[in-house]
Amino acid sequence: MIRLLYFSTANADVDAAQVNEIAAVSAQANAQRDVTGALAYNGRNFCQVLEGEDAVVRNLIAKIEQDPRHSGFKIIDKKSVDHRHFAEWSMKLVSDLDFSTVINAMNA
Ligand SMILES: Cc1cc2nc3c(=O)[nH]c(=O)nc-3n(C[C@H](O)[C@H](O)[C@H](O)COP(=O)(O)O)c2cc1C
Repeated sequence: MIRLLYFSTANADVDAAQVNEIAAVSAQANAQRDVTGALAYNGRNFCQVLEGEDAVVRNLIAKIEQDPRHSGFKIIDKKSVDHRHFAEWSMKLVSDLDFSTVINAMNA
């Protein structure tokens, strides 16, 4: 299993309602793929952690990277893990201004 962290920048027309929508749709889709994680949005940037089987997360990331709702996609960290930090969350939406909840998960 892997845990992966990336940053990106929301496109100018993305608002809080759209982020809620992304999180809700993702939560459903991730549950079917056995992917867990958290999505942080501070009004401008996204920071997301995804956890799951390597191939599943890799395929998902390839899709997310192409999503026109954001740009400047950059993977910050990726590692093998044997447990989930967000086991209870198929996609937890975090709207703190700072990204520590998500970033600190990489060290969990
Ligand atoms: C910031 C951001 C985070 C996203 N996170 C996820 C996610 O965790 N899971 C997911 O299925 N889609 C996520 N998406 C949506 C995907 O980019 C894509 O729209 C979705 O996988 C549907 O793809 P499909 O049309 O091929 O089914 C995210 C999009 C953005 C902009």
